[in-house]
Amino acid sequence: MPIKTDAPQELTPREIVDALDRHIIGQADAKRAVAIAVRNRWRRQRVPEEMRNEVAPKNIMMMGPTGVGKTEIARRLAKLTGAPFIKVEATKYTEVGYYGRDVESMVRELVENAIGIIRDRERANVEEEARRRTQERILDLLVPPAPTHFEASTEEEDPQARHERTREKFRAMLLAGELDERQVSITVEQKATPVMVGGMGLENMDMDLQGMLDKIMPKSTSRREMTVLEAGKFMLEQEIDGLLDTEKINAQAIELAEDLGIIFLDELDKIAAAETSKSADVSRQGVQRDLLPIVEGTTVQTRYGYINTDHVLFIAAGAFHRATPSDLMPELQGRFPIRVELRDLTKDDFIRILTEPRSALTKQYTALMQTEGVTIEFTDDAIEAMADFAFKVNQSTQNIGARRLYTIVERLLEELSFEAPDMGKTTVKINAAYVNERLAEVTEDEDLSRFIL
Ligand SMILES: Nc1ncnc2c1ncn2[C@@H]1O[C@H](COP(=O)(O)OP(=O)(O)OP(=O)(O)O)[C@@H](O)[C@H]1O
Ligand SMILES: [Mg+2]
Repeated sequence: MPIKTDAPQELTPREIVDALDRHIIGQADAKRAVAIAVRNRWRRQRVPEEMRNEVAPKNIMMMGPTGVGKTEIARRLAKLTGAPFIKVEATKYTEVGYYGRDVESMVRELVENAIGIIRDRERANVEEEARRRTQERILDLLVPPAPTHFEASTEEEDPQARHERTREKFRAMLLAGELDERQVSITVEQKATPVMVGGMGLENMDMDLQGMLDKIMPKSTSRREMTVLEAGKFMLEQEIDGLLDTEKINAQAIELAEDLGIIFLDELDKIAAAETSKSADVSRQGVQRDLLPIVEGTTVQTRYGYINTDHVLFIAAGAFHRATPSDLMPELQGRFPIRVELRDLTKDDFIRILTEPRSALTKQYTALMQTEGVTIEFTDDAIEAMADFAFKVNQSTQNIGARRLYTIVERLLEELSFEAPDMGKTTVKINAAYVNERLAEVTEDEDLSRFIL
């Protein structure tokens, strides 16, 4: 049985591309490739069992100049898919002291991510029951149980029945939120602070050492005063924890990560290395060698159990302007059969990037200025002038792609950003003349633009 996750898994390639289109301009090939790869996971889960194991993921390599959307595609894809997804920089395993941070830790991060997904889902399942139990516990605090035997009933009413009635009255008040501010006193367990072993956080450990420590360490408890509202939240978490079946969650998370997990390996080009004995190259080759089994499929021990990486999808990205994919180990090259190229962005792309995406730069700045009561309006020729400046500076100095737009817009609005609070309610029209006035000087002087833009 395929594990059911939430709806995003059901997205068709077209829907995935559409969703990516809302944030990223152009780069159609890359969007299509990742969309197909994501859908293939869904398909694989639906083929007959015997075949399922044979279907290997088609790992993707995205290549293209800097600042054209590689990482952005991964970032948006992560939000979209609802599948376990992590993004790591290949370079982080080459840093000084390499062989310290082991490459397998990326698989553990993936499982961690899957645990989060499954836990959230399971939480939703037990929440209602947990709320019910919490409510009873709060009522126990507010209306202590009726004395049972002694205090012989001189009154006409049975104390038990009266107690029940009071309790129900309190329940109604509790539900109406009338008791939220009342103080109650509850017992809380103090968790021992996480122990650090040799400077390494316990999250990196293979075993659930923290869990083991938690079991051995004596627990200290204390009584705390808090409002009913706070106590309710606190107890709800306790009840949820109590109702969750950790073993089941771990097993399902591992299965989910195995079947649908995606690891985005950014900066893969930076671990490409010539066959030399320079120490940096040796370190890069080391990372490649360690990476290979994980990409090929191996078993990794995590604190939640063993995970097999045979079907994990890898999407690699890199600028590859100095190195080429052929500088990678042949085995590794072979593991990324789908190659997509992202193209350089044109001036027209810049115009669209400035205005179209959901959180396009001009929209962001407009919203930011609006908080000061200043309405900014960009005219079309202003946008075009900005795109033009960005394009030219990229050509005359260094091509950093769409990142140039950030420096351009920041420079353009520097004065306004400073003055806005003192301007009162007003509208500022930004046209081509405004853009030229503020940017022409810097962009004409190549040295100046190197520093400022
Ligand atoms: N095609 C695009 N559409 C919209 N925004 C883009 C596009 N390309 C880049 N950007 C913006 O530019 C910034 C840099 O892009 P991104 O991080 O994706 O670059 P990259 O291709 O990963 O570059 P590098 O090779 O340097 O890692 C992002 O904040 C993103 O919003
Ligand atoms: Mg990047």
